[in-house]
Amino acid sequence: MSISIPEITLNDGVTLPVIGFGTYKLNGNEGANAITSAIDAGYRLIDTAYNYENEGTVGEAVRRSSVPREELRITSKLPGRYHAYDKAVTTIQESLYRANLDYYDLYLIHWPNPEQNHYVEAWQALIDAKKWGLIRSIGVCNFLPEHIERLEKETGTKPSINQIELHPFFNQEQQRIWHEENNIITESWSPLARANAVLQNETIGRIASYHNKTISQIILRWHYQLGAIPIPKSSSPERQLENISIFDFSLNETEINAIAALTRPDGRINNQDPATYEEF
Ligand SMILES: NC(=O)c1ccc[n+]([C@@H]2O[C@H](COP(=O)([O-])OP(=O)(O)OC[C@H]3O[C@@H](n4cnc5c(N)ncnc54)[C@H](OP(=O)(O)O)[C@@H]3O)[C@@H](O)[C@H]2O)c1
Repeated sequence: MSISIPEITLNDGVTLPVIGFGTYKLNGNEGANAITSAIDAGYRLIDTAYNYENEGTVGEAVRRSSVPREELRITSKLPGRYHAYDKAVTTIQESLYRANLDYYDLYLIHWPNPEQNHYVEAWQALIDAKKWGLIRSIGVCNFLPEHIERLEKETGTKPSINQIELHPFFNQEQQRIWHEENNIITESWSPLARANAVLQNETIGRIASYHNKTISQIILRWHYQLGAIPIPKSSSPERQLENISIFDFSLNETEINAIAALTRPDGRINNQDPATYEEF
């Protein structure tokens, strides 16, 4: 069974499905099998990163799949230790060699690392790599509005996407509103909060029973109705299919507000505040 996923158009004209597939921790042959089964289920947007050390696994799954390359949307990310312009250019090339792909559909700066203060150089490398045809769309992860404003001011180019931590315990309302005002799409990482207590939450459980859906499906539908692109990871073909079977029902405003009320200022999974947290 394969599910057809609706698409949206980014501010640079590139189209993306409204839900994608996370691959953190999916490596080697088992990882390639999991990604292949996700593509068979209907996923077309696949999220990897240089630092996950599985760009090769993703490339292998792309080659094993019968879905034409141009129908897939493959994302990778630039690590913090390679923000300097020359290193960033080399890393983008290395990312492609690792995956054995000619281009990425989307390439993101993984963390701003504001203390290091090299993210504008990294952004210039992404802008140039796009001009050279190595990347179709460029974006960021974990950038605060002040970081994005600086990119636009200093290079004249703004990201198509900002991939941020977003789940019912940390719903990022202010940042989402800012993205919307600035025509940037929000992508949600750890959309199921890494299957922590959120999957036992009573409020979401009641909504799930009413719709005859699972808690994961309610949460992923909630992302979709917020206008954010969730990228849930699952190693199981059954759960992969479950996670994209969200287009045959909808949540009403009361339900959406009840889920919004679960957010907490300390709701981040690992307290990774991009203003101070750095990752290399
Ligand atoms: N940009 C960044 O800084 C950043 C940071 C973190 C993550 N990411 C990206 O976001 C992706 C998703 O985030 P994540 O992997 O951290 O967490 P997640 O997708 O929120 O949760 C993954 C966990 O949920 C379980 N799961 C998935 N579907 C389920 C279901 N229907 N029922 C019960 N459990 C389910 C998975 O177990 P099974 O595998 O056993 O199903 C896995 O343990 C990552 O893979 C990565 O691509 C980006």
